[in-house]
Amino acid sequence: MGTGRTPRTIFITGASSGIGEALASLYAEPGRTLGLLARREAALHAVAVRCRARGAEVEVYPVDVADAHAVHAAASAFLSRVGEVDLVIANAGISLRDDETGGDDRVPREVMAINFLGAVQTLAPFIPTMEARGAGSLVAVSSVAGFRGLPNAGAYSASKAALNAWMESLRLRLDGRVHVMTVCPGFVTTPMTAANPFPMPWLLSADEAARRIARGVRRRTVVIVFPRRMRWLMLLVSAAPPWLYDRAVRWVRSRRPEVFHRSTAAPSKTGDRDD
Ligand SMILES: NC(=O)c1ccc[n+]([C@@H]2O[C@H](COP(=O)([O-])OP(=O)(O)OC[C@H]3O[C@@H](n4cnc5c(N)ncnc54)[C@H](OP(=O)(O)O)[C@@H]3O)[C@@H](O)[C@H]2O)c1
Repeated sequence: MGTGRTPRTIFITGASSGIGEALASLYAEPGRTLGLLARREAALHAVAVRCRARGAEVEVYPVDVADAHAVHAAASAFLSRVGEVDLVIANAGISLRDDETGGDDRVPREVMAINFLGAVQTLAPFIPTMEARGAGSLVAVSSVAGFRGLPNAGAYSASKAALNAWMESLRLRLDGRVHVMTVCPGFVTTPMTAANPFPMPWLLSADEAARRIARGVRRRTVVIVFPRRMRWLMLLVSAAPPWLYDRAVRWVRSRRPEVFHRSTAAPSKTGDRDD
């Protein structure tokens, strides 16, 4: 699959809901074969049924991305089924607040195992064949949370920062022979954000996020941060010295203490486009 050609064989993790489900639907059409992976088998099968109704062939893998052997087996099975894989999207992820633990290391271990190692374990089995062909796209769904440490979300921020660095290193290693793209969304309406108790600026729908990811794949972009206003904010946030970043966080905390505390209020309103 080179520039301008559409992927025919696509492997997506975290396809049972949210952005992964939206990507599966977006790519589902005749002539395409999808490999969909997530833990919840019933939800995954429901997505597969909808994708088949749109004309795609679908293989389903009810697997935990933290289980390296199971992910490798699923990737090998999909490769054997389709021969060549054009696009892999490591999208599975969880978001746990640091205060969801009693001070032990359960949260960082779980979040790193799924968000970082799970993505690495998803992409790694496909690298040799893509490299040999000199074709294909390897995509990881990271987050703007990886640009700086967020208060009460240290494990989540760390997992995404690690993923950003690993993807950058992979991109340099493959040096254009295979397209490598890191996706850093801002807020997207999915089950992950449904219980956020604070207003989420520039919220996008999962369908819109999927469209932007697919556009990045088509254009062979290497890093996408969306929406655009979040991209500008992240440029400022990344460049800010620690004293300024700390001051900004304190300012937000003094005005909206709920941003850094758990609760179960309703989600904010969804807008589809900002740019
Ligand atoms: N929503 C946002 O605002 C936002 C912003 C930035 C980045 N992201 C990133 O976008 C990605 C997708 O999240 P989402 O917002 O679409 O949330 P979501 O609806 O909760 O989807 C997460 C997906 O990951 C799967 N998953 C979680 N743990 C897994 C595991 N151990 N093994 C296999 N699959 C697993 C879930 O399926 P099962 O539960 O069935 O396994 C589900 O399909 C994540 O990497 C997230 O960090 C989201």
